[in-house]
Amino acid sequence: MQLTDVEKRMRDGEQGEPVRMAMEILIALGEIYEAERLVPVRSAHIAGLSLKSHGIAGTEWAEDLAKQGAKVCIPTTMNVVGVDRSRDLNLPREWEKNQLRIETAYECMGCYGTSTCVPYYCGFVPRFREHIAWAESSAVIFSNSVLGARDNREGGPSALAAGLTGRTPLHGLHLDENRRGDVLFRVTAHLSGIADYGALGSYVGRMIGTRVPVFEGIKGPSIEELVYLGSALASSGGVALFHAAGVTPEAPTIGSAFGGKRYDTVEVTVREIEEGRQKLTSGKERKVDYVAIGCPHCSLNQIKEISILLGGRKVKEETALWIHTNVAIKHLAKQLGYVKVIEDAGGIVTQDFCTILGNPEALGFKTLATNSPKMAFYAPGSNGLDVWYGSVEQCIDSAVSGYWKS
Ligand code: F3S
Repeated sequence: MQLTDVEKRMRDGEQGEPVRMAMEILIALGEIYEAERLVPVRSAHIAGLSLKSHGIAGTEWAEDLAKQGAKVCIPTTMNVVGVDRSRDLNLPREWEKNQLRIETAYECMGCYGTSTCVPYYCGFVPRFREHIAWAESSAVIFSNSVLGARDNREGGPSALAAGLTGRTPLHGLHLDENRRGDVLFRVTAHLSGIADYGALGSYVGRMIGTRVPVFEGIKGPSIEELVYLGSALASSGGVALFHAAGVTPEAPTIGSAFGGKRYDTVEVTVREIEEGRQKLTSGKERKVDYVAIGCPHCSLNQIKEISILLGGRKVKEETALWIHTNVAIKHLAKQLGYVKVIEDAGGIVTQDFCTILGNPEALGFKTLATNSPKMAFYAPGSNGLDVWYGSVEQCIDSAVSGYWKS
């Protein structure tokens, strides 16, 4: 791989050991993926910051880097962690202590403690065609598809290496030729709400793996619906980029999304949406003891909608209602009175934290209701929870009644 003179000196340690190590990671990755060179990136987003993924060894590694004076040189945001810094969730103390060590180490390196998978809701919005090095699959697919930025699915260490050097290997979705569509999905089903978009992503993601889907027939989706479509594609499959004709910036037409490539067509009717929904449901007992919403983290609009649905009702005593978002959105939601409505009803609004990367299962929950396709996909394996997947209305109803109604 070709390096500039500056990059060679970084590799040789001129800017200190953390930058030398970061260059070693980037060069090794570049060689694996046969990148010709490194490309400058404008921002990095580091994921894998939960104790579940970092472990104690990873925590010590990050602390060691911070002690050596590692400092990021581009805006670098942090993904969700496993502890809410604004409240006591009654999680095991040892877990909280170690989780806080991870956050402190990365903040010492100059990373922003955004602790969210939706940095684009907090002012970190890449421009069209801008090269970035973001980890967190739902953020990657959103920035690639909806914003038209250039990003690969980075891992935590490679995103940190990009933050420390301002560079990433030029390969994969940084190159225009790899961004063309592979399969056309003609959607004739009427989609309404996040859960429908999540079910579509669940169906298509399982079918397409890591290829690039192009959607025809998606009309006027909200930002939240696109976020949840992407998160479902990225979790049920390994998709990092999708196009939607007339909706996303690289697909003004179906032809431009494929760029002259031949492609197969798959019809998506109500039956396929139902199949996607069923795949996200593993619930057996109708009794629900945990309702969680916000994977990816909720927008202000989602929190407002939940507060309206709850207005005047009470969450069942033996059922927990947790809404996940970040500190910035929560602050606004508090100022606008939505948090008070939710908390007066008996729910809570968490920040920094989420079900999958935290460990609410430590509190004994057994059955989860959610409208988040990514949470529904991972919760059985990562948290040991049975899952009911459906609309936000169904989720709030089950928080109030303690039972899931289909
Ligand atoms: Fe975000 Fe956690 Fe879901 S990081 S996408 S809320 S698993």
